[in-house]
Amino acid sequence: MIRSVVRGFGAALPKRVMTNQELESVVDTTDEWIVQRTGIRQRYIASDDETTASLGEQAARAALANAGLTPDDIDLVLVATSTPDNTFPATAVNIQNRLGMTHGYAFDMQAVCTGFVYAVATADMHIRGGMAKRALVIGAETFSRILDWKDRTTCVLFGDGAGAIILEAQEGEGTIADRGVLTSHLRSDGAHKDKLYVDGGPSSTGTVGHLRMEGREVFKHAVGMITDVIEAAFTATGTTADDLDWLVPHQANRRIIDGSAKKLGIPTEKVVVTVDLHGNTSAASIPLALSVAASDGRIKKGDLVMLEAMGGGFTWGALLLRW
Ligand code: ACO
Repeated sequence: MIRSVVRGFGAALPKRVMTNQELESVVDTTDEWIVQRTGIRQRYIASDDETTASLGEQAARAALANAGLTPDDIDLVLVATSTPDNTFPATAVNIQNRLGMTHGYAFDMQAVCTGFVYAVATADMHIRGGMAKRALVIGAETFSRILDWKDRTTCVLFGDGAGAIILEAQEGEGTIADRGVLTSHLRSDGAHKDKLYVDGGPSSTGTVGHLRMEGREVFKHAVGMITDVIEAAFTATGTTADDLDWLVPHQANRRIIDGSAKKLGIPTEKVVVTVDLHGNTSAASIPLALSVAASDGRIKKGDLVMLEAMGGGFTWGALLLRW
C-alpha cells in the first residue's frame, strides 16, 4: 500500500526574540508568573517585513533543501494557518508563487492550533488517493498580529514562526513497521467555539479582530481531549505508550504537555518540548518542534512518533507516524 513518508523538514523563526522580561514592560506581568503557569521563557515576534507567507516560504525552502528536492518535485502545497497574509487568496498559493511553482495545487487549512495535524492527515489522504506524489505541508503563523497587547492573560502566551515537512508517496507493506503516516484521528466540537476565538472577521465585523480566550476552560478540556485521540491512535494500530519513541505535542503550555504525557504513561524523556523557546505558535508549533528534534538527532529514521494538538473550535487530533 501507499504510505506518506516524511522526506524532509525545515523551520523558520522571526529575527526578533521577545523575552518574558521584555513583556514586563508591556503588561503587568512577571517572568516568574509566565514560567510557572506556562513554561514559556521567550517567543519570536515578526517584524513588519516578516509575514506568515514569508516565514512559510523560508521553512518550505529549508525542508526542500533538507530533502534534496526542488519546487518542481512538489505537487501539493498545504498551509495550516489562522493568520493568513490576506483573507484570500490562500497563503498556500502565495507560497506556491514565492517558490516559483506554476504547476500543482495549493490550499489553506484552518483548524487553529490543530491545523498541522489536520493538514498532515489531509495531505496523507491526497497522497494515498493518488492525487499528489509529494506534498509540502507547512504550519505558519503570525499570532502577534491578532493579539491584544493590553491583555496580559493572552499576549504572554503566543509567538510567531513556521515549520514544514515534505511527505512523499512510497510503497509500504501495510504494517506498522512501515515508514510514513500510520493512522490519524481528527475531532472537533463547535459547542466550545466561544472559549477560544478571534472577535473579528470579514463576514461579521469586517475587521481582523483580536484573540480572546477563557484560559481555565481551555485548560479544563485539554488533557482529556488530547489523551482520548492519542488512545484512539494506539488502539487503531495495536501500539502502546511503550512502543513510542517520541511524543511531539502542540506546544501550548508546559502543564498541559506534562499532564497529558503523565496520564498516558509517556516518560518526559520521550516528549519534545520547545514551548520554553517558541511560546505557542499555534499551527506552526508541531513542525517547529519536529524540526528542532530531527535536527539535533533525537528523532531518527524509523522512530515511532505521535503528533497531537488541541485548539480553538475546539479542534483536536492525533497522528502516529514512523519517521
Ligand atoms: N501575569 C500575571 N498575572 C496574570 C497574568 C499574567 N500574564 N495573566 C493572568 N494573571 C492573573 C489573573 O488576573 C488572576 O489574578 P486574580 O487571581 O487576581 O484574578 C491570576 O493570574 C490567575 O489567573 P487564571 O486565569 O486563573 O490563571 P491560570 O492558573 O488559569 O493560568 C493560563 C492562566 C496560563 C492561561 C491557564 O489557564 C492555561 O494554561 N490555560 C490553557 C490555555 C492555553 O494554553 N491556551 C493556549 C491556546 S489553546 C491551545 O493552544 C490549546
